[in-house]
Formats: sequence, structure tokens, C-alpha cells
Amino acid sequence: MRDRRSWRQTRALVTGASSGLGRAIAEDLVRRGAKVVLTGRSLARLEATAAELIRGGADPERVIVAPADLTVQADRDRLFETVRDRLGALDLLVNNAGVGATGQFDTHDAWVLRRVFEINFFAMAEVSRAALPLLSEGVEPTMLVMGSINARRGLPGRVEYSASKFAVSGFVESLRIEWRRYGIHILQVNPGFSATPFDENAVVKTARVSVADWRTTPPEAVAAAALRAVEKKKREITLTGKGRLLVLANRFLPRFVDWGLSRWLLRHFPDSPALRRGKPRQQVGRVS
Ligand SMILES: NC(=O)c1ccc[n+]([C@@H]2O[C@H](COP(=O)([O-])OP(=O)(O)OC[C@H]3O[C@@H](n4cnc5c(N)ncnc54)[C@H](OP(=O)(O)O)[C@@H]3O)[C@@H](O)[C@H]2O)c1
Repeated sequence: MRDRRSWRQTRALVTGASSGLGRAIAEDLVRRGAKVVLTGRSLARLEATAAELIRGGADPERVIVAPADLTVQADRDRLFETVRDRLGALDLLVNNAGVGATGQFDTHDAWVLRRVFEINFFAMAEVSRAALPLLSEGVEPTMLVMGSINARRGLPGRVEYSASKFAVSGFVESLRIEWRRYGIHILQVNPGFSATPFDENAVVKTARVSVADWRTTPPEAVAAAALRAVEKKKREITLTGKGRLLVLANRFLPRFVDWGLSRWLLRHFPDSPALRRGKPRQQVGRVS
């Protein structure tokens, strides 16, 4: 791909660029010389990222900040006007913004499911739709969509999030074929647990045990792997050994994975009503 279009010639839009993985990808792109529109809701955090990049030597003309709440159509319209004005066309869309939610589904109000889908799925899909005319005018255009290990194996305690990411996978898989007629390539990136404020920013957090200690992969490593996959025109990448193992085990030994995750759930939610059914309560307590 880079034979024909260098990173310096790349015009990119990165959603969720105010934090975590999106921020790391935007920074990496700018350092490679791409012209990048960074979006997120927090203007302050976007401006701080841009200022740091410019202090580090980036050309201010190539770092464009455009705040938007992607769940709001008027904001999306304004964002894409900015992208058209400043970039003219898009060679790379990084459709990354997303939120988590932890805790058991039956203890959550209905709005949790709606909110998670609103951002992770509907906003992502509408950003894709709005980007199509600009991507169609791009050079070797690519859309990178941020999936998750949860897009390939649902996890207990993350029902809403897993469902939203499975929806992302279905969307990507079907749209990839449809958009071949425009010459647009679509890549899904499934990062494992990465060291970002993802858990703090979750819309609801009722899990009893934190997985903060598992968040060891630096966002910069995810960014580097994601951009390598863009260069190689990969369809999908799954990062971290644990993540790949889980997806593989689930493909061949789904019942074993169910069993393992049931034990994990018992440790995280010792009073799990679903698991108590048919089991004496003290047995649940012993496992936890
Ligand atoms: N970290 C992980 O371990 C991990 C693992 C697998 C997948 N992922 C996926 O990676 C993506 C990024 O997550 P992260 O870890 O970088 O989390 P993060 O640090 O919390 O970043 C989330 C980003 O999404 C933006 N965002 C949230 N709601 C938005 C809205 N309504 N409109 C516009 N932007 C919005 C946030 O910006 P504002 O708050 O400024 O709006 C922020 O920039 C997500 O899709 C997530 O599902 C993360």
C-alpha cells in the first residue's frame, strides 16, 4: 500500500482521539507525517494532545482538532464539514471511539444497553456512512474499526459491551464486501486488555473485581500494530497472547471456555443469582 501512498500523503480522521488507543493512533499518524483530524467530546483533551504533538515538532497545519459527540447527528455533520474543508478527502478513517460497561446484565437498567450501543455501534456505523463520500475520493482508502476480543467471544460481566462489539464484527464483515466496489478496505482491530482509562470511562461499573492489573499492553504498541495492519491490508488482527488464545480456544473448545468463564464469573460476582440456581449458596462462596 505504501508503495503508492506514503504516510505523509495520508489524510486521516481518528475518533476517540482524546484518550487511550485513539490518541495513541492519532499521535503515531502525526509523527509519521500524516495530516490528521482528531475528534472526541473533550476539546480540552484534544487541544492538549495537539499542543504536545506541535511542541514535539509536528506541523500545526497537519494536526486538526474537531470536537464532536458522535452520538449526535448535528455534531457528526459539523465534524464531516471540517474534514472536507481541511482534508478534502479521506485516505484513512480510524473508527475507534467506544465505551465499556461492567456488571451483570440483569442488575442493569435498560439505558445501559442503549447507551453502549449508541456509541459503540450506531455512532460507529453513522460515522462510516458519513465518511463514505470522502473515503471514495481517497487514495487507497482504508477504514480501521476498533473491535475487541469481546467481538469474537462474549464475556460475562460485559454483556452489553460484548453484544455491541459482536454487532461491530457483523457490520464490518458485511460492509467489507459491499465497499469493495468503492475500493475501500476495512480492517478490524481486536486489542487485548490495554493500559487506557477505558474502565474509568465505562458508563456503568458494578463488577466487584477490577481487571486493571491485566491492562498491561501500552496503547502505543496497539497503535503500531494497527498501523502495520493498515499497511499490510489485513482484514482483522487480534492482539495479545491471551486474547488470541481465548479466541482460538473458543473456536475449538467452546464448552471448555464456557466452563472457565463460569468459574471466573463466580469469582467476580459471588452472589450471582444465575449461578446460584441449582447450586447451594455456600458452594458459590467457597469458589470465590
Ligand atoms: N483499552 C482496552 O483494553 C480495549 C480493549 C478492546 C477494545 N477497546 C476499544 O478501543 C476503543 C478505545 O478505547 P480506549 O481503551 O482507548 O478507551 P478510552 O481511553 O476511554 O477512550 C475512549 C474514547 O472514545 C471517545 N468517546 C466516548 N464516547 C464518545 C462520544 N459519545 N462521542 C465521541 N467520542 C466519544 C472518548 O472521548 P471523549 O470522552 O472526549 O468523548 C475517548 O477518546 C473502544 O472502541 C474500545 O471498545 C479497548
